[in-house]
Amino acid sequence: MPSVSATAPAKIILLGEHAVVYGQPAIALPVSDVRARAAITANPLGKPEEIEIISKRVHLRTFLSDLTPDHALPRLFDRFRLECGIPKLPAMAITISSDIPIAAGMGSGAAVSVALLKALGLFVGVTFSISQLASMAFESEKAYHGNPSGIDNTVIAYESPIFFKRDEPVNFFSILSEFTLVIANSGIPAKTIETVSAVRKRYEENPQVIAALHEQIGKLVEKARQYLEYGALTKLGETCNQNHSLLQELGVSTPLLDELVTAARLAGAYGAKLTGGGGGGNIIALVDENKVSTVEQALLEAGAVQVFSTRIRKISQNV
Ligand code: PMV
Repeated sequence: MPSVSATAPAKIILLGEHAVVYGQPAIALPVSDVRARAAITANPLGKPEEIEIISKRVHLRTFLSDLTPDHALPRLFDRFRLECGIPKLPAMAITISSDIPIAAGMGSGAAVSVALLKALGLFVGVTFSISQLASMAFESEKAYHGNPSGIDNTVIAYESPIFFKRDEPVNFFSILSEFTLVIANSGIPAKTIETVSAVRKRYEENPQVIAALHEQIGKLVEKARQYLEYGALTKLGETCNQNHSLLQELGVSTPLLDELVTAARLAGAYGAKLTGGGGGGNIIALVDENKVSTVEQALLEAGAVQVFSTRIRKISQNV
């Protein structure tokens, strides 16, 4: 019985979340050590479109046809059928698994979508370009987030650091010096859709003030890109700190996230900030390799429920 599988990485936003929804740039990095997986087995006895989906982690065992049309998965499948020109898919069983924390700003939903699309492509024998994968995964992002910028599905599909601007071709850049990111989970689940709509409300009440904050964030992102390209890690850390202050002003941080950020800085991080939608979820700390365990320990003592580190490698784009 044919069986295929594929994976996709987690992601973090280094700088620029929220402002990116309003057209400012943002920088996102893949976290390749933490991944979502989709495995598909054919069901030769089943009828076309008999598609069973199992995800133990979210206690899901269902047939695709039993999900409401506004659910992320039917939306993803509709787009997939259209893209590959197969109106009725053969019967199959899909098992989804993932190590990516849910509702923590690490792109869990987008990673599941990309892994699933890659596996579906293998299953039906259609090869997609990365930009097609990113564009298809955007369908499910809309179901999860309402008005997503598209940054999560893009960085996860490309699995490469990106400088992202909404509705513009994706941009890549070089990273001159390696560094470590310590990622600390506050343990508070965060719904991006809620913080994004809270920012929208503030924007509608006070457009000039909020637009000015977004612009300041956009400028930090431009600077951060240069610091990454020149290997200026101390400067990069400072821009992360400044970005966190602006996110506080946008109202998406919390006392616990602020405490975690402060603990990481006091323990010697170059800089630290919340990452993703905020309201809970993760913070990131930019750390030199010899400070990783000190920063991790400080974050656990300050209340993080989980910490882990990922090394951001040098990358040359020959630009
Ligand atoms: O999915 P999260 O929590 O990493 O948030 C994505 C970043 C936001 O800018 C808050 C939303 C978006 O669509 O870009």
